Amino acid sequence: MSYPLVHALFCFLLLLPFSTVAQTNGTVDVGASITAGDNSTTPWLSASQDFAFGFKQLQDNNLFLLSIWYYKIPDQTIVWYANEGVPVSAGSKVGITAGKGLVLSDPQGRELWSSAPILNQVAYGSMNDTGSFVLVGGGSFNIWESFKYPTDTLLPMQIMESGGVLFSRQSEKNFSRGRFQLRLLKDGNLVLNTRDLVTNLSYDAYYWSNTYDGVNITNRGYQVIFNETGYIFVLTGSKQRVVLGPTTGLPSGDYYYRATLNFDGVLTLYYHPKTENANPKTWTPLWSEPDNICVDIRASQGRGACGFNSICTIDDYKRPNCSCPEGYSLLDPNDKYRDCKPNFPLRCEEDDHKGSNGDLYDLLVLIDTDWPLSDYEELKPFSEEMCRNSCLHDCFCAAAILRGDSCWKKKLPLSNGRKDSVVNGKAFMKTGALKTD
Ligand SMILES: *[C@@H]1O[C@H](CO)[C@@H](O)[C@H](O)[C@H]1NC(C)=O
Ligand SMILES: *[C@@H]1O[C@H](CO)[C@@H](O)[C@H](O)[C@H]1NC(C)=O
Ligand SMILES: *[C@@H]1O[C@H](CO)[C@@H](O)[C@H](O)[C@H]1NC(C)=O
Ligand SMILES: *[C@@H]1O[C@H](CO)[C@@H](O)[C@H](O)[C@H]1NC(C)=O
Ligand SMILES: *[C@@H]1O[C@H](CO)[C@@H](O)[C@H](O)[C@H]1NC(C)=O
Ligand SMILES: *[C@@H]1O[C@H](CO)[C@@H](O)[C@H](O)[C@H]1NC(C)=O
Ligand SMILES: *[C@@H]1O[C@H](CO)[C@@H](O)[C@H](O)[C@H]1NC(C)=O
Ligand SMILES: *[C@@H]1O[C@H](CO)[C@@H](O)[C@H](O)[C@H]1NC(C)=O
Repeated sequence: MSYPLVHALFCFLLLLPFSTVAQTNGTVDVGASITAGDNSTTPWLSASQDFAFGFKQLQDNNLFLLSIWYYKIPDQTIVWYANEGVPVSAGSKVGITAGKGLVLSDPQGRELWSSAPILNQVAYGSMNDTGSFVLVGGGSFNIWESFKYPTDTLLPMQIMESGGVLFSRQSEKNFSRGRFQLRLLKDGNLVLNTRDLVTNLSYDAYYWSNTYDGVNITNRGYQVIFNETGYIFVLTGSKQRVVLGPTTGLPSGDYYYRATLNFDGVLTLYYHPKTENANPKTWTPLWSEPDNICVDIRASQGRGACGFNSICTIDDYKRPNCSCPEGYSLLDPNDKYRDCKPNFPLRCEEDDHKGSNGDLYDLLVLIDTDWPLSDYEELKPFSEEMCRNSCLHDCFCAAAILRGDSCWKKKLPLSNGRKDSVVNGKAFMKTGALKTD
């Protein structure tokens, strides 16, 4: 044997206890740990290697998310994350302790997150083939399961109990909790809603399962069950199944399924072939809610599907596409799903009552576009000409909508903006250059 080969073999044997033995049946001993950015420690795999638990490096930076992901498929989709989605720096560590279960600490050893409080001593951890990381106690019963603390995704075999909630991410690459929620309310309804990020106040729902009963408990939904063949249903007190999405005809065979509340507020059920040589090699949407998030969000508070002053159009996959109107630009240039600001001054000066400021703006005509909840005045009967002029000469007016012979004047910030054929009207929007005399 040549030296390099012996050396390689020696290294292999050395690494063996750390990298493979602990993974054969998904079991992880108390005391085991993984360090972010350290390639000599590897993620904890489930027995089938379908799922991994560990640190996932986020794109383009030296940050790591403690998470669970699909290990065998190319895009290694993340299905759960700890620490409310806040990533950690290289050198951070996660380990299993008997008293606190999973403990995440920063490179200085300060605790960032843990699975505590747990009621019993942990005997071992296990990355289950279902995608749930489980802490098992002395009597072989589960004392903590990641399935009970879902983030933005539900998996087959997972159950959401009454009071349960999924939060969307902030954006595709930012896993902090975002503006959208899926909640199973105490009254039995499963709802999607937007919320205020600071106070968590929930705004009006934009989807509901109709599984609520204000009077009769037996008719209320109390669990959302995602079964192993990919169907998701609300189970009522009388054990009735109210299936969300298709009730038959899901592709059967070797597929992964997941239901994710996407960062843009759309709840989607996807499937993906398990084997490498099957097609398509990506997640294919099977069902999603709501049907058209651009028009279905009607909460009087909040932004709507996109940011303030933005316009939402629905794409072929029922996902929102957000864009700023002409004359407006993104407050955060890297995130088109957020607020837009006017690039020109839109304000009232002392002599504006003279009506002269109509000369200052151009009016953009936008077909089938509306911000339905930003009205401050309705003028009727009004012609197109009158509607345009009224907005142009009104320093409070950011846009006006004409539908039939009604003219609605709108103020900033415009919210719930949408461009869709259901709008059936046109908008005149103040825009562009401040004309100088
Ligand atoms: C998993 O494998 C380890 C090491 O071989 C063994 O100690 C443990 O009992 C096994 N656990 C289960 C649940 O089979
Ligand atoms: C760890 O592995 C990754 C990918 O294989 C590589 O990019 C990185 O440089 C490695 N880090 C260290 C510290 O070796
Ligand atoms: C893995 O999950 C399945 C389904 O919930 C369960 O039957 C099994 O006991 C779990 N395994 C462990 C080690 O918890
Ligand atoms: C994610 O977004 C939140 C809220 O905007 C921000 O505080 C946080 O720094 C972002 N995280 C990363 C990793 O960029
Ligand atoms: C809102 O929810 C987040 C996450 O659950 C929590 O950290 C925060 O304290 C809550 N804020 C308020 C005001 O309740
Ligand atoms: C509640 O609903 C169930 C099923 O619809 C019905 O059988 C039962 O009589 C109802 N109970 C009351 C108190 O109305
Ligand atoms: C999953 O639920 C669907 C809808 O109720 C049902 O048709 C199917 O038989 C269930 N699958 C299993 C494995 O129970
Ligand atoms: C989103 O909207 C912009 C502006 O209207 C358009 O250029 C772009 O093609 C749209 N993208 C998709 C994916 O529909």
